[in-house]
Amino acid sequence: MKVLIVGSGGREHALAWAIARSPALKKLYAAPGNAGIAELADCQPIAADNVDALVRFATEHAIDIVVIGPEAPLIAGLADRLQAAGILAFGPSAQAAEIEGSKGFMKDLCAKHEIPSAAYGRFDEPATAKEYILRSGTPIVVKADGLAAGKGVIICRNKNEAFAAVDHIMTERSFGDAGDEVVIEEFLGGEEASFFALVDGQRAVPLASAQDYKTALEGDVGPNTGGMGASSPAPVVSDAIAGKVMDRIIEPTIRAMAAEGRPYRGVLFAGLMIEGGEPKLLEFNARFGDPECQALMLRLKSDPLDCLAAAARGNLNGTKLVWRDEASLVVVMAARGYPGWYDKGSEIRNLDKAAAQKDVVVFHAGTKRDGNRVVANGGRVLGVGAVAPTIGEAQKKAYAAIDAIDWPEGFCRRDIGFRAIESKAKRKVRGGE
Ligand code: AMP
Ligand code: GLY
Repeated sequence: MKVLIVGSGGREHALAWAIARSPALKKLYAAPGNAGIAELADCQPIAADNVDALVRFATEHAIDIVVIGPEAPLIAGLADRLQAAGILAFGPSAQAAEIEGSKGFMKDLCAKHEIPSAAYGRFDEPATAKEYILRSGTPIVVKADGLAAGKGVIICRNKNEAFAAVDHIMTERSFGDAGDEVVIEEFLGGEEASFFALVDGQRAVPLASAQDYKTALEGDVGPNTGGMGASSPAPVVSDAIAGKVMDRIIEPTIRAMAAEGRPYRGVLFAGLMIEGGEPKLLEFNARFGDPECQALMLRLKSDPLDCLAAAARGNLNGTKLVWRDEASLVVVMAARGYPGWYDKGSEIRNLDKAAAQKDVVVFHAGTKRDGNRVVANGGRVLGVGAVAPTIGEAQKKAYAAIDAIDWPEGFCRRDIGFRAIESKAKRKVRGGE
């Protein structure tokens, strides 16, 4: 098969790395890719959201399947346009991707189909939003309806913070049109996990469980980022919980999307909050998580191209995913200053020393090649991944590889994996779950 991967992050490098080993692969392209992807694929200078140019390239190069990484091209209708051109696309249609693109749509879908999620209200005026906050009490969560690059969710401890969040989103329009509406939600406590399923329109096949570490600083504090690290499996997602997630969240959503005339194909990513053995849905995404995808690809034994193509073709019947028994862990190295302002262009040295370590893979995100140097070209720059019998051992290997990398302008959290390790220890004390 001739494959085109759309995107330029660590997630897309991990997909390219996994797909590169598929016996069915004839030629791998990426658009636009990064310095790491360029070692595996023919990278084309086409932006991930340039739908016209991507469809033209895929048509002219007789691409068999386009694997769409980020949400922006999905919401812009890339999968629909490819399908109209007779090209297989891994990723949902624009209408199905609304499950990520509009939090209001997602919440209404959950309410209508009794999918467990936080109580909520939708508002298109600040005054009614504030009345709801006064009625509901705090803590409470205020969310911009549309896409806001991961920054549109504000957790508010008291009324003043909640009112300020409404003003920030609706009056100051800090996220532009994404703040035409807000969703205000009950605050849920518990432990978070990321749950992924491949979906073919009717059927869903769950992936291994994973967890990400969203905040910039150790101990899960500081500003939210796209994700500073991930590990798989997530001990909090026991088999019993995975079964509940499939029965109560994933399967009903797939039926609901089909009934609404928006059949879902691609990967469905459920952000979960788990408390007292009960999973609730925080949000849906229409794509793989980044860096969860890197952690998952490190453990996937099945042929990735077969699985993605089966979902895209609407034919997951009989697909069973096989995973390595070992755990995986990925630590993100970001440019100093991220998620705020940061510099580009600093040189990253000794990547080969890190990558040569046993059971280690260095995924590139915001990197580019400048002659024979690799330089930083984004906020999240690398994802250093390791596989080992336990998450604790994978953590040691990943940090040993990071310590081999010479990049003074970068930083990472030193505690990635701590929640999985603590959660596993607690479960052992309680006698397992
Ligand atoms: P989202 O982009 O909707 O996943 O929200 C980003 C982060 O905000 C989540 O990963 C949670 O940590 C937190 N969050 C979102 N909704 C809630 C909620 N209803 N209760 C508690 N935390 C939440
Ligand atoms: N790591 C979370 C996300 O990709 O949204």
